[in-house]
Amino acid sequence: MLGTALVPFLQQRHQVWGIDVDDCDICDAEAILAVLRARHPELVIHLAAYTDVDGCEANPQIAEATNSTGTRNVATACAEVDAAMLYVSTDYVFDGTKVGAYLEDDLPNPVSVYGQSKWLGEQHVRAILKRYFIARTSWLYGPNGKNFVTTILRVAHKQKLLRVVNDQHGSPTYTRHLASKIAELAETQAYGVYHTTGSGTCSWFEFARAILELWPMESVQVLPISSDESGRAARRPANSVLENRALQKAHLEPMPHWKVALAEYLNETKRSSQARVFEESERGTAN
Ligand SMILES: NC(=O)c1ccc[n+]([C@@H]2O[C@H](COP(=O)([O-])OP(=O)(O)OC[C@H]3O[C@@H](n4cnc5c(N)ncnc54)[C@H](OP(=O)(O)O)[C@@H]3O)[C@@H](O)[C@H]2O)c1
Repeated sequence: MLGTALVPFLQQRHQVWGIDVDDCDICDAEAILAVLRARHPELVIHLAAYTDVDGCEANPQIAEATNSTGTRNVATACAEVDAAMLYVSTDYVFDGTKVGAYLEDDLPNPVSVYGQSKWLGEQHVRAILKRYFIARTSWLYGPNGKNFVTTILRVAHKQKLLRVVNDQHGSPTYTRHLASKIAELAETQAYGVYHTTGSGTCSWFEFARAILELWPMESVQVLPISSDESGRAARRPANSVLENRALQKAHLEPMPHWKVALAEYLNETKRSSQARVFEESERGTAN
């Protein structure tokens, strides 16, 4: 999802190669090194990950091989070809017990297999490279990927009562805005750890309600539930709000407020073919 927003954005100003899993599996150290040796990039932006948070609980070995060892392979290959690296990490490296927003130098303590594997990935990057960015983001949504916004719209077309978790708080982040911020960051040499999320915070329940206010559907009701009631396999942090302090220190603008960003995304979706997915779903022709 993020890659499809980022590559066209960067291509406006740079020579960019988008590398897919079909081109190169990051679990294969030789393959990633061969790809980088052939191209000699100045910077590698590493987004590839096993991102199914509940799936990681059932398949910890895939999470470890992809998110931890795969990231080590990318970092090692970057060191070999003397490239800087930007690694996209996650709010799920934190345990969510802090009162107040997490800062970049707060100590991670992941509570899920996914969070642990991404945190190990971060540690490999720090250990192997001097010139790196770690950009932690959260609650991503945008075109070309399964995400909370499209899930809510699709489900709301099929059922009139939605139950959504109200005891986890974070910051929704629009991939287009994150792509723009990553591009700005990558043009600096201010290496380090950054929190890069949409501004403002909400619960998943509040996020769902905002989606359905901007995309109204007749007689759909959203009810708040607890994380325990949701029955998800992976634990999620109750508080995954990340203060974007390092961006501020680097004199980079904060990203737009999540409500502004959501309105922008939904307006774009209404104009695009993606809107048809929900309309067709209403007629029972898609799922
Ligand atoms: N989504 C979020 O809410 C969120 C929040 C915080 C941080 N992040 C991080 O942001 C980054 C981008 O997330 P996203 O939501 O855009 O993820 P995504 O849509 O799941 O994209 C991840 C990509 O990695 C590929 N991939 C998986 N295993 C691979 C392997 N062994 N070698 C090469 N490529 C592989 C996937 O290919 P297949 O599709 O073929 O599997 C997919 O194209 C990830 O690093 C994620 O951890 C995401």
